[in-house]
This record gives sequence, structure tokens and C-alpha cells, in this order.
Amino acid sequence: MRPTSFAGVALFASGAFAQYYQRLGGCPSLGCVFPPDQADFLPGQHFDIRLEVHSPVNGSEAREGVPDSNFKFTIGKKGQAGIAVTEFFDVEEAELENWSFSWYEDLFAEDAGTPSLVNVTSKAYRRVALYEPGEYEAILTYYGEEQTVANWLVRDIPKKRRAKNVVLFVGDGMTTNMITAARLIAHKSINGKYQTTMQLDKFPVLGHQMTHSMDSFITDSANSATALYGGHKTTVNALGVYVDSSEDPFDDPKFELIPEIFRRQHPNAGIGIVSTAFLADATPGALTAHTSDRGEYDHVIGTFLEGLTDYEWTKFDGPDVLFGAGAENFITSEDAPRDYYQLFSEKGYTLSLNKTALDAASNEERALGLFSVSNLPTWLDRNVYQHNLKELGNDPSGSGADALDLPGLKDMTVKAIDILDTRRRDEGWFLMAEAASIDKQMHTLDYDRSLGELLELDDTVKATIQRLEELGVLEDTLILVTADHGHGFDVTGAVDTVYLEEQEDDRDKRRAIGIYENSGLSQYTVGGANALKYSEGVHFPARWDPRYALHAGTVAFPDHRENYKVHKDGPRTPAEAGGDKTYYASYKDAVSGFLINGTLAPDASQGVHSLTDVPVFAQGPCQELFGGVYNSNDIFFKIAECLGLSEAKGGSHEGEEGHCPPKH
Ligand SMILES: *[C@@H]1O[C@H](CO)[C@@H](O)[C@H](O)[C@H]1NC(C)=O
Ligand SMILES: *[C@@H]1O[C@H](CO)[C@@H](O)[C@H](O)[C@H]1NC(C)=O
Ligand SMILES: *[C@@H]1O[C@H](CO)[C@@H](O)[C@H](O)[C@H]1NC(C)=O
Ligand SMILES: *[C@@H]1O[C@H](CO)[C@@H](O)[C@H](O)[C@H]1NC(C)=O
Ligand SMILES: *[C@@H]1O[C@H](CO)[C@@H](O)[C@H](O)[C@H]1NC(C)=O
Ligand SMILES: [Zn+2]
Repeated sequence: MRPTSFAGVALFASGAFAQYYQRLGGCPSLGCVFPPDQADFLPGQHFDIRLEVHSPVNGSEAREGVPDSNFKFTIGKKGQAGIAVTEFFDVEEAELENWSFSWYEDLFAEDAGTPSLVNVTSKAYRRVALYEPGEYEAILTYYGEEQTVANWLVRDIPKKRRAKNVVLFVGDGMTTNMITAARLIAHKSINGKYQTTMQLDKFPVLGHQMTHSMDSFITDSANSATALYGGHKTTVNALGVYVDSSEDPFDDPKFELIPEIFRRQHPNAGIGIVSTAFLADATPGALTAHTSDRGEYDHVIGTFLEGLTDYEWTKFDGPDVLFGAGAENFITSEDAPRDYYQLFSEKGYTLSLNKTALDAASNEERALGLFSVSNLPTWLDRNVYQHNLKELGNDPSGSGADALDLPGLKDMTVKAIDILDTRRRDEGWFLMAEAASIDKQMHTLDYDRSLGELLELDDTVKATIQRLEELGVLEDTLILVTADHGHGFDVTGAVDTVYLEEQEDDRDKRRAIGIYENSGLSQYTVGGANALKYSEGVHFPARWDPRYALHAGTVAFPDHRENYKVHKDGPRTPAEAGGDKTYYASYKDAVSGFLINGTLAPDASQGVHSLTDVPVFAQGPCQELFGGVYNSNDIFFKIAECLGLSEAKGGSHEGEEGHCPPKH
């Protein structure tokens, strides 16, 4: 059939609809309400309200540039007349704020350097809560008759606590495809049947979560972690807040997060945070931080230490356990004005700077463990190609020495459980443990290192179950393993790396790729002279450098070269900046390989996150809540339900000094 062409296609080429760039995410009209339409709340969850009225000075939506300063905001149960917000929550009238901001409507405007200017009036009502389950209508009326309606849902969640403890594993960027590839390289099979399987394969309940943002279908780790821990989908780069249009990264409307709610209701509840990333990074940081900019590292570490101090907000006086990397954000420097090693020590934390000290640390005391500068070196470098640990100058003391006595995710997680169980057995505890470099190594197209991190996560889950069983608390503990988003990774065959290397021409090199029946069987589980100690019982590949390697890739990448061989001399850098500041394939990254032209904008140096739903594995009390397909933020509500964090009208605020929000 011939394609039909219509003169009328120009229909789609005009109009002011902005998708690529938005005036303000979550606010398609000129009146903005945060929390926005479709927001869900746990009964009793504290939150801020931010209202904005926009008056574009120019651009496609131009008005006079004088935003309404007499806007009205009412709230009511759906179907009933709303009342003024001040009366509804019994709070003071908020001060009128104003500012202006500018944004580009599209790439043409950006190229031309013509941003659209918007003047704003705004009010914020801080720290309110809704207790009664049901549907609410929050209505902003501005410019006389214009309205923005936000439909809010307070979920009807039973108050009955069913789990004492929760362990939430986040495999950052982990997809089902990656799990499948990790299984293939670490577990032997005979005639298509695995002889052993992963710990994840043994979970009784499997669900899928949709990771979309509030205002974009691809998320980052800040926004997605915020949905997991706070129940609200927000904007890329935001931690524990909706993003308003003001310049200040700390005045955005906040909502309460699991560690804050759990501690507010149970002052003796335990909180543990473990990550292989630098601890100021988004996935650990989202447990306590409230900022529209995930790059505010000092704010993140400050909230670990003492919660939020700028606003009247739920008090949070530090986790029981904080283990990970990123010592540079704890040591005094221009970017980190405070000496956090000293400040945490003064609060009674033990400080471990290496694995020996971690193992020896008291289980009775709160514990801070920083094991390197930047991210922790990967499992592959710590366990197989250890020469890569030299000359990194990454000792967490800041001495410039190499950090060589390094724990892994398993060591940190099991120690965290020992401390939480010792200190918080009565009230229970919540632990988040992140395998961060599944994502970080996917970004740099280093699939071997990424899969090594995934197998380390699986090994950690196995060790966690064993430890909980030894402590006699396995039955009381909900264990979840999920991701925050994916990457478009998959495996499509095998590559004869020897044949590839022997060919001169790039097109001839591609003949080394075997597909379908020529993909053969996994050569990573075969022992022999080069077999590693990880071959039996503990499931990692017996070798990482077989002649027939995985033909692996992602759907979006910068220019790079590929030879499909493990990078024995350290993590990959697939692309390097050229003189024009855009990125080109690094020749030395894969000397024997062939060139693959990028599919992303030329200024991309790395691969990116993708659309895919991600898996949720659950076992323990409430496991049945986690089957099926649901939204990322539903995980917050399911965990809150399991811990009994729902607060009925007139609920108690034990352990809180005054300032109970009024109840509705
Ligand atoms: C809009 O904001 C700009 C810049 O902040 C200001 O100069 C201008 O007076 C404002 N326009 C109106 C009509 O208030
Ligand atoms: C903010 O309000 C002040 C006082 O009314 C006014 O002078 C200023 O132009 C306003 N700024 C913006 C950006 O609208
Ligand atoms: C809007 O006004 C600002 C300030 O005068 C100017 O810099 C910008 O180019 C204008 N944008 C458009 C789209 O006209
Ligand atoms: C480990 O840390 C302890 C305590 O800070 C220190 O005494 C010891 O020298 C460190 N060991 C290594 C190998 O760096
Ligand atoms: C890569 O792109 C360049 C143009 O940017 C082109 O000359 C070259 O042939 C392409 N190479 C491959 C392998 O696609
Ligand atoms: Zn990422």
C-alpha cells in the first residue's frame, strides 16, 4: 500500500503546546496548585501547599505581566462546598510573595536566545494534614473567573500494623532484562534448564511498577525515590518536594517521607540507610532531604544529621545507620562548610572508614560508615580486577591514599541489620539498601560492571534473609527488592571476540556477532584455567573474559566503540569531549572494536534512563499487596499500610513538641 500524504499535516506544526520544555511541570494553566491534581495522601501525612498565579509578559501565552494578587483558594470534600484554606486547616493567612522567571518554549527560542518571561504571585501554607479518607477538591480561583481544580485523594488505609521491620532494596536502574542477563552469566544451565537460580527468582510475589514522573514520562533517581518514599510523583531532580517556579531550592512545597512519619509516630523506630553511591546522591538522600535540586549535597547531609531546620517541620534526628561512600561531602571544604565527621561523632555515632572498623563497630551505637571518596569502587574492581583500586586516592579520611580495605553492599547491609536489631528490636525498623552502580555503570555502557553489581545485590538479598532468620525476625520483616527506573538494556546474542579482533574492517567485525542458534550457550559459567573463586555456591561468573561474550547494548547512547570485552583496566569511558564540547567515541575505550554512531544529542556523554516498568519482588508480611501492576508511588502507600502508619482523625502525636497540625 502506498503511503497517503495530506496537505493538512501542517495542523500539528503550529500552536503553543509545549512538551519538550514546560512553563512549570504540573501546571498547564496559569494557576498552579501544589500538591497538584491527582495527588494521593496517607491519612495524617504532613504537607505544604504552594499556590502560584502566572502572568506571562511575552511569548505564546502573553498577558499583561500583572499576576492576580487577590486569588482565592478553597478546599472541601468532593461534592460539598469548599471553604477558605485558612478556615479549613485553621492556619494563618499566608504572606503574598512575588517573583518572575523565564523559560524557553522550544529549541527555536533557545537557539534565538528569546526566553518567555513570566511574573508570578504566590502563597504557601506550611505543614498541614488531611486525616479523613476520601476525595477532596482544592480550587484556586484567579483573574476573577479562572479556576484550577486539584482533585486530591486521601487513601482509606487500615491502621493495623502488620510488619515490624521493612528492608527495601533499590537496584538503581535495574530491569528484568538485566536480571535475566545476570542469571545467564552466573548460573549454569543444562539443555536450557538452570541448575541453580538467583535469590530474586525465589521470591513468592512479583509486581511491576510504572516509574513515570508527574510531568515527564522518563524519570531520574531523585524524583523516583521521592515517589517510593513519599507517595508523591514529582519533577526530575526534586527530593521530597513539588517544584515551584521560585529560584530558592529550599522553599518548595514539601511532603513527609517514610522515615519522618515512622519516627514521628514511633520515636524509637530504627532507620537505616545503606548505599554503594556517595551518600548525598539522590536515592539515599531522598529519605530525608527536601529540595528541588538534588545537587544541594550539603543540604542532604544536613538532613541526615538533624532533619530539616529551615522550616517548622517533622523533627528527624538522624538515622541509626548511615553506610556508603562520598566522604568528600562530609569533610570540610568549600562545598561542605561543616565537619560532619565531628558533628556525627558528637551525636554519638561511631565512625568507620574501612571494612575492619565496620566489622568491629559496636552494634549498640548509631553508626556512620564512609568507605571511599565518590562512589564505592564496583564489585568487579573490588573482587576481580583489584589493580584498579590503586591510584584512586579515594581514602575516606581525605588523606589522598587509596581506599583498599573496602566493604561491599553485603557487608554494609548485614552490619546495618545487626545494629538495627540490637538497638530497635522493640519498635522495629526500616532499612533502605541501594545497589547504586547497576545504574551508574549502565550509564557508561559498562555492562559487565553493572551486572556484577546486580549479582552483588542478589548475594546481599540472600545474606539478608539468612541473617534475619538467624536473628529470629525473618517472619516479622517485609523484604522488597525493586528499582527506581530502568535503562533500555538487553542481550541479543554472543560475540566471538577473537574473530572480531582479527578483522580490519568495521563491517567485517560485525560478522562476529552470533544471533539465534549462533548465540550458543553462556561461556561465563565455564571454569578452567582462568576460573575465579566465585564459581561454586556463591553465584558470580566463573570467568568474565570468555571468547564468546554477551552481545549486549542499550537503546540510546553517545558515539562509542564496542568490542564486547570486559574492561579489565577499570570502568569504561565510552565517549570523550571534542574541541566543540560535544562527545565523540573514545578510541582507547575499545581499541579493537568498531564505531557505533550515537542516537542521543551530541552533548550526551552517557546512556540514559528509559521508559520500562520495573519489577518489585516481595516476601514477608503484606507480600500480597505487592503483586500486579501499579504506580511507583503506590509502593509508599503499601509500605505505610504494612507499618500501620495511617493516622485517624484525632490520632496521637507522641514524641512531638507542640504544633500538631489541625485535623480534618
Ligand atoms: C514583571 O517582572 C519584571 C521583572 O521582574 C518587572 O520588571 C516588571 O515590572 C513586571 N511587570 C509587571 C507588569 O509588573
Ligand atoms: C513584586 O511586587 C512589588 C511590590 O508590589 C513590585 O514592585 C514588583 O514589580 C513585583 N515584582 C514582580 C516580579 O512582579
Ligand atoms: C521577553 O522579554 C524579555 C525581557 O524583556 C526578553 O529578554 C525576551 O527575549 C522576550 N521573549 C520573547 C519570546 O519575546
Ligand atoms: C581502618 O580504620 C581503623 C580505625 O579508623 C584504623 O586504625 C586502621 O588503620 C584502618 N585500616 C586500614 C587498613 O586503613
Ligand atoms: C557515523 O556518522 C558519520 C557522520 O556523522 C558518518 O560519516 C559515518 O559513516 C558513520 N559511521 C557509522 C559506522 O555509522
Ligand atoms: Zn541514572
